[in-house]
Amino acid sequence: MSSEPLYPAYLPTRPDGYAPTLDVPYFEADEPGTRADPLKQTLLKAGASLTNITPRIGTEIRGVQLSQLPSAGLDEVALLAAERGVLVFRDQDFADVGFQKQQDIVQYYGPLHKHPTMGYPAGTGPEFHVVYADETAGNLRTLLGPHTTYDLWHVDQTFTPNVPSTTFFWVLEIPESGGGDTAFTSLTAAYEALSPAFRQLLGGLSLYHTSASVGEVARVGMERALKEAVSTTHPLVIKHPVTGKPSLFVNPTIARKIEGFLPEESDHLLKFLHDHIKSLDFSCRVKWEKGTVVVWDQRAAAHSAVPDFKDGERRHVVRIIPYGIKPEPAFPGQFSASG
Ligand SMILES: [Fe+2]
Repeated sequence: MSSEPLYPAYLPTRPDGYAPTLDVPYFEADEPGTRADPLKQTLLKAGASLTNITPRIGTEIRGVQLSQLPSAGLDEVALLAAERGVLVFRDQDFADVGFQKQQDIVQYYGPLHKHPTMGYPAGTGPEFHVVYADETAGNLRTLLGPHTTYDLWHVDQTFTPNVPSTTFFWVLEIPESGGGDTAFTSLTAAYEALSPAFRQLLGGLSLYHTSASVGEVARVGMERALKEAVSTTHPLVIKHPVTGKPSLFVNPTIARKIEGFLPEESDHLLKFLHDHIKSLDFSCRVKWEKGTVVVWDQRAAAHSAVPDFKDGERRHVVRIIPYGIKPEPAFPGQFSASG
């Protein structure tokens, strides 16, 4: 455990002290998945072989290098990620193509999220979010303190009008004794599992999302989290901007209040929905291997870390998030922005 990291250049630092604001004002966004070939002929011609992880979420892809795809192929990646929730690209050279190329590829999908507090590799910027655990840095368990479980299902950074879209997450080093998977659940399949009567109720509701949330409070403390809070409201059921499918856009760590409901009503309904999205019927667990790059659509899938690896072991993963459009309600006729 005292060995050197495999990718020391990717250790988290914040050498310049740069702390971008959490706020991202609304902007007109592009959705590359909307112009993709539905048959994904560029990906298939490049040699991609696709295997579903489960029927409802997740596709494992071999035989193609993300770093070499033309723009038509990147469009198809966005469409496929929207359709399947999460894509697991194996045997990639992505970790070794350099900061600039990594950033350029993800930036193709939209302006990049800049994390206000987490460290980034020296020579890059807060567009790179390094998830790093070792004997000194600790891990999610040591950060959050004692709990029965560390499931933290969420969608990243949804407290701004535009929300994260086609997100890239690639592994540099895997815990020596195994573990440290990432779990994903389909928000479109979670919606489809509900009855028509219940869907009718949800289609008219909106959710309050705020950065003064569980993760941010753990990271910077309650006082600072409240002072710097950025908040917005999104429909509870959104129309996926690429597939057009309704998506149950809940976010257990960031969106904890249904607009217009009294606190007990909101808590009760959200508890049901937060339990519902955890179902094994429409979730999957991604096991990292050397060379794995995960690409997922944050409007179609929520995710959770699985911090089950041994204390002190090193886990090193890097994420870059692009922003997509501001979510629209799936059923505008039922929806009332004021709740
Ligand atoms: Fe996350």
